[in-house]
Parts: sequence; structure tokens; C-alpha cells
Amino acid sequence: MLIEVARVADIADGGMIAVSVKGKEIVICNYEGRFYAVSRACGHLNAYLNSGTLDGYILTCPLHFAQFDITTGEALSGPVPPDPDPLHATADLKTYPVQVKADTISIDI
Ligand code: FES
Repeated sequence: MLIEVARVADIADGGMIAVSVKGKEIVICNYEGRFYAVSRACGHLNAYLNSGTLDGYILTCPLHFAQFDITTGEALSGPVPPDPDPLHATADLKTYPVQVKADTISIDI
């Protein structure tokens, strides 16, 4: 089900915003004019990724610097320093399909 979450003008190129939709916390990222939606909680220990940094398609967690590909949700690298607890393995991020129509960004959730 498509839900409107933002206007294109709300998210500058290289920027991101956090939205809450149907009880899910999501980050919408603008990567070179294309928009991607991933879960807001880091795949390591759930830090809010919208407080991190977006460099191209790579989103870096503000807490322990794990990195994720926003186009796929893939965890590219784990925390720094590495977390020795196997229960804290870094999971990929959930991704959500994004649709842009005119100036409206919607996600399929
Ligand atoms: S909570 Fe994100 S890297 Fe640890």
C-alpha cells in the first residue's frame, strides 16, 4: 500500500529524513535525485541512522560506524571496533519500494 511520506523538496540531494509510517521507523534518502527508503534502526544495535552520514549510496551509523548500501540495505561493514559478541552481528537493513510522482514521495509498506 503506497503511503505519501514527503515532498521531493523536503530532502536535498545527499540528505535524508526520518519518517514514521504505520508504526515503522524509516529513513528516506536522496542519492543523486533518486530516493531510497530503509529501516531507521541500525542493523547492529538499533541506533537511529538518520543521525549518521550519507556519502553517495553509503549510510554510516553514528554510533559504531557500520555502513550500509541504501540501494539494497546490505551491511557493507560492521561496527568499529568490531563487536566481539556474536549476538550483535550486523544485519542488513530492510528496504521499502519508493515511488515519486510529481513532487510527492510515497513508499510501499
Ligand atoms: S548501532 Fe550502528 S554500528 Fe552499532
